[in-house]
Amino acid sequence: MQLILDTGNLKEIQELSTILDIDGVTTNPTIVAKEKKNFVDLIKEIGEIIGDETPIHAQVISTSYEDIIEEATFISGLRENIYVKIPVTHDGLRAIKELKNKGIKITATAIFTAHQGFLAAKAGADYVAPYVNRLDNISADGVGTVKDLIQIIDRYGLSTKVLAASFKNTQQVIELMKAGVHSVTVPYDIAKAMMDHPLTDWSVDKFIQDWEAVYGVGTNTKG
Ligand code: G3P
Repeated sequence: MQLILDTGNLKEIQELSTILDIDGVTTNPTIVAKEKKNFVDLIKEIGEIIGDETPIHAQVISTSYEDIIEEATFISGLRENIYVKIPVTHDGLRAIKELKNKGIKITATAIFTAHQGFLAAKAGADYVAPYVNRLDNISADGVGTVKDLIQIIDRYGLSTKVLAASFKNTQQVIELMKAGVHSVTVPYDIAKAMMDHPLTDWSVDKFIQDWEAVYGVGTNTKG
């Protein structure tokens, strides 16, 4: 199960990638625009933090087939380990098929149904990214949709990985992990919520208090 960070903020990536074993960073135009930086510079700076071995998923802005091909080819040349995110519009699906033939790594994105995910996988996408919380926001079943997609991909032995995105709480993440999701991309606040628990902090404080009551300030290395 891959854990990916859904942020373009360098401080957040630096902090979390130091603590956690992360399998990549995903961005999209909204995430990049928040940083108010040049796109190419930002991708390079993210790469310097996470290292060459860890992938970045970066998205095209173009909407026509021809422009998507051109932009995706440009993005794929930015670094060795990069997946080009392409929304699953008609032009997007067509471009995915073509770019796959050229050996470009693809993450199909803005997926809202299991059908769209299946079609993108069939077109050759390496990852398919369904949006969990945006479905929940319209009273649809985000987790259920992703579960269906996982089942379809696994049932037919497709090599595509489901990369669930758009999370607003840790329960959505846990439900999909239990269902065997291949990867999740989580924003900073969700990653923090997965890491933290007040009882962990309370327990550590109590251990120290109890130790110091008998041995005074110090650690095991001091005898
Ligand atoms: O990568 C796609 C994801 O960032 C969308 O998340 O929170 O904007 O719905 P959100």
